[in-house]
Amino acid sequence: MEGCKIHEWETIIYEGKVKLTIPNPELFKRPDGIYEPAWAPVFYNPRMTFSRTLGVVVANTYFNNKEFFFVEPLAGIGVRSIRYVVEAYGTGIINDIDPIAYNYIIRNIKLNNISEAATASNSEANSLLNSIRSEGIVIDLIDIDPYGTPIPFIDSSSYAIAKGGLLAVTATDTGPLNCSHPQVCYRRYNSLCYKTDFSKEMGLRILIGSIIRCAASHDVGLEPIISYYHGYYYRVYFRATRSAKSADKVLRNIGYIIYNPNTLKREYIKIEDIKEVPVEEGVLCGPLWIGPLCDINFLLKINKTLAKRYSVYIEDIEPFINMLINECGINKPYYRYDKLFGMLKKNIPPKRLFINELQKQGFRACETHFDPRGIKTDAGIEDLINIANSITR
Ligand SMILES: C[S@@+](CC[C@H](N)C(=O)[O-])C[C@H]1O[C@@H](n2cnc3c(N)ncnc32)[C@H](O)[C@@H]1O
Repeated sequence: MEGCKIHEWETIIYEGKVKLTIPNPELFKRPDGIYEPAWAPVFYNPRMTFSRTLGVVVANTYFNNKEFFFVEPLAGIGVRSIRYVVEAYGTGIINDIDPIAYNYIIRNIKLNNISEAATASNSEANSLLNSIRSEGIVIDLIDIDPYGTPIPFIDSSSYAIAKGGLLAVTATDTGPLNCSHPQVCYRRYNSLCYKTDFSKEMGLRILIGSIIRCAASHDVGLEPIISYYHGYYYRVYFRATRSAKSADKVLRNIGYIIYNPNTLKREYIKIEDIKEVPVEEGVLCGPLWIGPLCDINFLLKINKTLAKRYSVYIEDIEPFINMLINECGINKPYYRYDKLFGMLKKNIPPKRLFINELQKQGFRACETHFDPRGIKTDAGIEDLINIANSITR
């Protein structure tokens, strides 16, 4: 079978429950010996396995183990989509603009014997989504997993996503989102950022805010049900509703953050209240998402899916979801523990001790997935300073 024929410069690998033909990574290393997907003739990144596995778990949870129609418009060799077919109940279109990638998609579909459930396509992503929608077909799951920013694909995704559909989005341009490049952040996301002590959370909130505003212009309401930062990328899953009313509803959680770098004070502010903020309060960052980063009920359902369908621990997903569950109810951006003690010019006590003290005083507090140096808490900076002084006295 053509799908099973392997060239001497290729190899077969396994990811999740699927097998894939890829260009042999050993032959496409950088001069320093490190495998870099962009150096290979077609894109396959093993470091994204966690993201793809969690994607399968999210799809199984969201669609409740029922069939769904998906489109992956920027699919590389097709691994993500093939996993939606084999490990969830997806049927769909696997697309890439690159003819080499398209050829791998065809071969990997054959290799996994899923030709009845998956169609390979070789189009530009936006044209594909627009043309599917123009034919009157709506899509249950659109997975946007591009190089860098996803923003160029949000208009067409908003047009094509089904009512009640799931829009999954990756962003790998963490530099601009984390405010290492404020002008790029402004250009791509129309947001003013500032290098805060919670930059990784600010980046996620800017990304979500920008996507929501774009979708709202199509009368589509997008609600983030799980969103996270993982090493070098952001990932957000949105539940889509199609009405002007639902778009207006989510827009109420678009606002700004006022951040004071001298005092580490941070406050969200709604758009309608901006004119009341005195300039000396701090730097104004946004617009961005000021609502919850996850839906706690959905996270709890994910845990049930994990318990039911997966007998073994899969790639640290369960502890990761538990961490998000802890953080979910705490909307205030995390604090950098080291920065707090740096500001107070004090030695840093064990973080666990500090979190226990916050909890003893009735605050919610936990570690954060964003940063090992961070603490998520609903306490204000004045409370943190009081506790820091009391335990280091
Ligand atoms: C990051 S890779 C995709 C990785 C893949 N989703 C995975 O999980 O392995 C991005 C892919 O988008 C494709 N691409 C870039 N611009 C495109 C466009 N406008 N339309 C369709 N495909 C595009 C590239 O050829 C590349 O294969």
